Amino acid sequence: TLHTFQPPEQVSQVTRALHGVGRKVALVPTMGALHAGHRELIRRAKRLPNTVVATSIFVNPLQFGEGEDFEAYPRPLDKDLEVLKEDGVELGFLPKASDLYPEGATVTVHPGELGDELEGVVRPGHFAGVLTVVAKLFNIVRPDYAFFGEKDYQQLVLIKKMVRDLNFETRVIGVPTVRERDGLALSSRNVYLTPEQREDAIVLSAALTAGAFVGRDGAEAVLATARQTLAARPAVEVDYLELRGTDLGPAPVDGEARLLIAARVGSTRLIDNVPVVLGAA
Ligand code: PAJ
Repeated sequence: TLHTFQPPEQVSQVTRALHGVGRKVALVPTMGALHAGHRELIRRAKRLPNTVVATSIFVNPLQFGEGEDFEAYPRPLDKDLEVLKEDGVELGFLPKASDLYPEGATVTVHPGELGDELEGVVRPGHFAGVLTVVAKLFNIVRPDYAFFGEKDYQQLVLIKKMVRDLNFETRVIGVPTVRERDGLALSSRNVYLTPEQREDAIVLSAALTAGAFVGRDGAEAVLATARQTLAARPAVEVDYLELRGTDLGPAPVDGEARLLIAARVGSTRLIDNVPVVLGAA
């Protein structure tokens, strides 16, 4: 059965007690508006033996910029709680903003240079906000495992880096992106799309898939093929299309790489990415 908590101290008390009796804890951090992508993270967590699954729902003000959709972000709380029950989550953590960020809290986690690239160009301070709340959740819950989606690939890479650089003891597990039948990556922000925009949005995953398909022919071919696909939907405004290494450093000449895109469809900003194998490797 699902037990929900608002005060951080209560969750800490429960997870420490669970550890005391030899249970493990897996955390799935979310901002709610739960969809099949979130549910896949929960499903993976549920597979771990002797492990209690905790899901946090918190729309983190610190990671939203000026003029972003913090106020408009969907918050279907009752529906989300039904999802958690249905998926067998035992611990729900729904903190209040004032509990996580009391008056005078000023210390944050600095992501380093990668925080200013890709998403960071358009969203200054976003990853500092993400890493700060994730660090707090890790300290409150002390999870043995934490699950994050590859959908937000730069976020996943930065969280793994934070865990290494700051000696967190949590094992971070990345989960492949869950998609609609036509390829669109599931996102809580897809609800903002009109039917026409929803059609246009398919081109993001289509371009990435087409690019990845020609990986053997090298980086230039991958990018050219993706750009060609994108050109069919001029209403989609691309912020970036980049080929990088799996750690988001420079792409290797051959071997595993990552192709990432961000684009605006109307006023909705969408991101996606896929793995690419470059060259004859
Ligand atoms: P949110 O956007 O709610 O996403 C919660 C988790 O679900 C993230 O790890 C995200 O990558 C994953 N996810 C979203 N869509 C997915 C999809 N289609 N397939 C697989 N996984 C998917 O990401 C955040 O919240 C926040 O930044 C958070 C980490 C909770 C910190 O506030």
